[in-house]
Amino acid sequence: MAEIIDGKEIARAIREAIREEAAALREKTGVTPGLAVVLVGDDPASWIYVRRKAQACEEVRFLSRELRLPADAAEGELLDIIAQLNGDDAIHGILVQLPLPEQIRTQAIIEAIDPEKDVDGFHPVNVGRLLTGNPGHVACTPRGVIELLDRIGVDIAGKEAVIVGRSNIVGKPLALLLLARHATVTICHTRTRNLPETTRRADILVAAAGRPEMIRGEMIKEGAVVIDVGINRRPDGGLVGDVAFAEAERRAAYITPVPGGVGPMTIAMLLGNTLAAARRIAAPV
Ligand code: GUN
Repeated sequence: MAEIIDGKEIARAIREAIREEAAALREKTGVTPGLAVVLVGDDPASWIYVRRKAQACEEVRFLSRELRLPADAAEGELLDIIAQLNGDDAIHGILVQLPLPEQIRTQAIIEAIDPEKDVDGFHPVNVGRLLTGNPGHVACTPRGVIELLDRIGVDIAGKEAVIVGRSNIVGKPLALLLLARHATVTICHTRTRNLPETTRRADILVAAAGRPEMIRGEMIKEGAVVIDVGINRRPDGGLVGDVAFAEAERRAAYITPVPGGVGPMTIAMLLGNTLAAARRIAAPV
């Protein structure tokens, strides 16, 4: 039976360290890290995420500002808000919750954020820095996955890492991070011909496809580390990941639960990126 990776507890310890570092920064420079979260519309899942982010800020004594726009807001309104936040010295991190309503071009919004305040790591400047091996802000969920692997003591170098899912938010940046750590990386997606054959090669298997329980037990190599990034709502209201947990648990050496695995790590990494941005502004290099 696999050992269950307690992302909730690991994230709690990281938040505690961030709280102490932020207190030291405040003491030394008078700067309190500030995060602005912008939410457009009323998607219930997004509401929950935004609330969690605000709670986490409170816990580590960051300044947090929440801005809400109606679902029918124009792109120009959102761009105006971003321009204001870019110029606001109390705000070091700006996060626009995705997905955005369809009248707003997501890429135009991402590109309007000052790359130094882009704590999501989605701006092309930050993506490019990651690609070329000189990272700025790195996307929070992929960073959280690497942090979990480090905490359980996995030596990533030389391992076969297989990622299922090729999103800009998780799959692609995670592939770059694993590559930088010298893994042999495969990205699978909807057109991958023989998915089980590929996933069975994985020493490190990351499921980030957004398809409930699509990774079955027989797709997993004995002794693999299985990281489940999926959060899917079941018809009965419960949450399931992209991995069929009960089956996977019998084959993996380590596995993350849903909830309580990767999710809390994403928020801890967001706080870490905001602290790093505040530090750079307090003591520019
Ligand atoms: N929606 C789902 N995940 C994310 C994330 O990491 N950042 C933002 N901004 N929106 C999201």
